[in-house]
Amino acid sequence: MKKHTTAPRHITMIGAGHVGLVTAACFAALGHNVICLDTDDERIKGLHRGEMPFYEPGMSELVLKGCASGHLTFTTSYEEAACEAEFVFIAVATPTTPVGLPDLRNVRAAGAAIVQALGSRRAIIISKSTGPVGISQALESLHETVSLPLVGNPEFLREGTAIKDFMEPDRVVLGSDDTEASRAVGSLYEPLGKPILYTDMKSAEMVKYACNAFLATKISFINEIAEICERVGADVRDVAKGMGLDFRIGRHFLNAGVGFGGSCLPKDVRALAYLAAVYGSHPQLLNAVLEINAEQRRRLVGRVRDALGGLRNKKVAILGLAFKPDTDDIRDAPALDLINLLEYEEAEIVACDPVAVDAARKVFPRLNCETDAYRAAEQADAVIIATEWDEFRNIDLPKLRSVMHTPLIADGRNILEPAVVRANGFVYLGVGLPDEDKLRTSVAI
Ligand code: UGA
Repeated sequence: MKKHTTAPRHITMIGAGHVGLVTAACFAALGHNVICLDTDDERIKGLHRGEMPFYEPGMSELVLKGCASGHLTFTTSYEEAACEAEFVFIAVATPTTPVGLPDLRNVRAAGAAIVQALGSRRAIIISKSTGPVGISQALESLHETVSLPLVGNPEFLREGTAIKDFMEPDRVVLGSDDTEASRAVGSLYEPLGKPILYTDMKSAEMVKYACNAFLATKISFINEIAEICERVGADVRDVAKGMGLDFRIGRHFLNAGVGFGGSCLPKDVRALAYLAAVYGSHPQLLNAVLEINAEQRRRLVGRVRDALGGLRNKKVAILGLAFKPDTDDIRDAPALDLINLLEYEEAEIVACDPVAVDAARKVFPRLNCETDAYRAAEQADAVIIATEWDEFRNIDLPKLRSVMHTPLIADGRNILEPAVVRANGFVYLGVGLPDEDKLRTSVAI
């Protein structure tokens, strides 16, 4: 890990969620003095005991190291958080409202509370929470009334690789009308040795939305291509490889499957589409991206229904609840849609995930859950793979087949090799793959 090369600064982080805690711990690791505030008393008590509020690889070690070195502390008190602050990052949650735009109340409340606690003290306020060209507006009134410098600093941290993404970013984006403040925040990131883009506030906010919308577009694009592949008998994996070798396209985010989920891509595309409409624009592409994504879940369930000749009273094991591997986050996870769709069709569902079962039980208290895939698949009529966890990638096919009632696998992440699965006696449904089982599906089952 890189060592900090400039003088340690006093950083206040408001919000000990994924973005706030990762950023706080990483700045502490760079040698700054960071105090991280959260109004959730239980969360802060847990952090004092060394308990992480979420699963993120390497997080626990980094936080414990930060605390042991004295560079990282936690509090629930704005007064304590403000007393030495030079830089105040606001990284509070901006949950989606029913209309689709993020709720900025947490941002406003955090801004008001820190300004009051700062009193006459000067500090740069940095917005890290994601909000559409308007999160700055949420803080603008503070800027106007107390004239504290305001800088937008969108985050590009992926769950599961957040620490690496902070320490080795592709770029840092800073937006402000106050050049001096922007440069001061930039100095915190300079030791990382990566490009820093200085813009105005609104452009910085748009970079964040445009990036997530583009990533989502790539996924929906390849999913649309996948459907055509299925119909013409092509293999979308090879198509994606062939596309990805063109450096103008790039190979990332071209994995066809059951679609994107998580707390960012779906929420941000919805928010941008809504914002566009509010400003009188017609976001056709963004709407199509969302529609294709929702359709991916429905199509997969439909294909299982067709293969089984109906879903009522059929036992379906869903392998994977988290929206992607290496996280216990199930927000907007494809598995949630699959569960709802299957429940509607009166299928009997057993879900399985190595780490996200507790989170799922909070959303579906009566959901039958297992942490072992073979137990989940006992007497199942179909297995649907919804998350590409390694344990599912490396599943013991003969063992799986021996416990299932009907050997059908719908691989919503294309992680298994179709020929191998079929050689083990399964009917295999992938996404965007030549459907060799199509003709014999009804015969085999
Ligand atoms: C995303 C962005 O990748 C980060 O750059 C951004 O900082 C973050 O949102 C955020 O706004 O905070 P994250 O939500 O952690 O990060 O997840 P991704 O790795 O982007 O995956 C999103 C979803 O797309 C997952 O459900 C994944 O399974 C799916 N996906 C990804 C595909 O279906 N196909 C692909 O080829 C790639």
